[in-house]
Amino acid sequence: MLAMDYRGPYRVRAKHKPDPVIEHPGDAIVRVTRSCICGSDLHLYHGLVPDTRIGTTFGHEFTGVVEEVGSSVQNLKVGDHVLVPFNIFCGSCYFCQKELYSNCHNVNPEATAVGAIYGYSHTAGGYDGGQAELVRIPMADVGPTVIPKDLHVEDAVLLTDAFPTGYQAAEMGDIEEGDTVVVFGAGPVGIFAAKSAWLMGAGRVIVVDHVEYRLEFIKNYAHCEIVNFKDVADMAIHIKKMTDGLGADVCIDCVGCEAAGNAAQTLTGRYLKLQAGAATVLHWAINSVRKGGTVSIVGVYGPTFNAIPIGNAINKGLTMRMNQASVKRHLPRLIEHIQAGRIIPRQIITHRIPLEEVADAYHLFSSKLDNCIKTVLIPPGAYSNSVVSKEEA
Ligand SMILES: NC(=O)c1ccc[n+]([C@@H]2O[C@H](COP(=O)([O-])OP(=O)(O)OC[C@H]3O[C@@H](n4cnc5c(N)ncnc54)[C@H](O)[C@@H]3O)[C@@H](O)[C@H]2O)c1
Ligand SMILES: [Zn+2]
Ligand SMILES: [Zn+2]
Repeated sequence: MLAMDYRGPYRVRAKHKPDPVIEHPGDAIVRVTRSCICGSDLHLYHGLVPDTRIGTTFGHEFTGVVEEVGSSVQNLKVGDHVLVPFNIFCGSCYFCQKELYSNCHNVNPEATAVGAIYGYSHTAGGYDGGQAELVRIPMADVGPTVIPKDLHVEDAVLLTDAFPTGYQAAEMGDIEEGDTVVVFGAGPVGIFAAKSAWLMGAGRVIVVDHVEYRLEFIKNYAHCEIVNFKDVADMAIHIKKMTDGLGADVCIDCVGCEAAGNAAQTLTGRYLKLQAGAATVLHWAINSVRKGGTVSIVGVYGPTFNAIPIGNAINKGLTMRMNQASVKRHLPRLIEHIQAGRIIPRQIITHRIPLEEVADAYHLFSSKLDNCIKTVLIPPGAYSNSVVSKEEA
């Protein structure tokens, strides 16, 4: 099969690899129809995630058609078109029973703090991902969801990560009616966090980024106020000025470890690697939220430590919530929102690129070229199978 192949920082290519096989009776093999590149893949691509091994295949946002099932799989059959949440999880451990699927305790032999994620380094379990023609799905009875007939495949692929992650980011903000919500990051996750904040009753949504075309997009798509941080001398003072001097009720970090905007953080976090990424947005969020407010974090930070102003957070009485998204928990509600026409996730897709051109696709998304918001890779076979026609793309 053709698959994305990691060769080292900033170097990926499309390569022929052996087809995956059923390794356990609970596995399935899925033929990929759509596979996105996520902001999280950029952390891998930039060499910031520990134990990212040469020769692995990334990709944790994908849909596909079930091609083969192991002998114990009961909930899937050959030919089902499924969306596959980015988390791999068992469905039955202590954490899964609490619907903390991203924190599943049974799927990652490499670490206890992190659950398992497709194509996300050996730190997250060492599973190959979906930027490929075929992918092995462990615990196939638990993760995949059959795509409802009336759901567009490109809305479905955004339900595997970006939309539920943005939604959970807003949910963890405990937004109350009328709240002012600040979202840091106008990438796909920030876009869906902003949309979700409205769905949860926010009175005001302000989005911060420095990429002008992304700010323009989010202003139109999610109807929020925008702030370009390049125009702002001090973020906390700026947000306080916008919010009667008190600060925002909720601040959401949809940026993570590769934040720009503070030279010292960038140097120590991204270049010297003295801390696990630049904690710029954590500073901005903690200092811009009002006393007693909530900071929600879905931006990714690696192990082991970041220099953050925890004293300010304590003295202000903040609630801080964070996690990898537990995608499956949100699906029923998000599918309902799409079917009711409240949101059309696929409108954020700006680029559809053949898997063969995966190197160009990473470069484009990483460098924010050609007004790129979200990039979808299309494997060669995806056009010819009966499920996805060229017209649909
Ligand atoms: N927790 C989860 O389950 C989960 C799931 C998906 C993605 N993520 C993480 O969410 C983050 C965003 O993902 P994405 O796909 O939207 O990525 P992206 O790279 O497309 O978007 C990030 C945006 O942040 C902006 N930015 C940089 N520095 C900033 C700053 N100081 N203030 C405000 N904005 C700033 C960038 O210009 C960019 O537009 C990443 O860290 C990703 O790893 C987490
Ligand atoms: Zn992701
Ligand atoms: Zn579990």
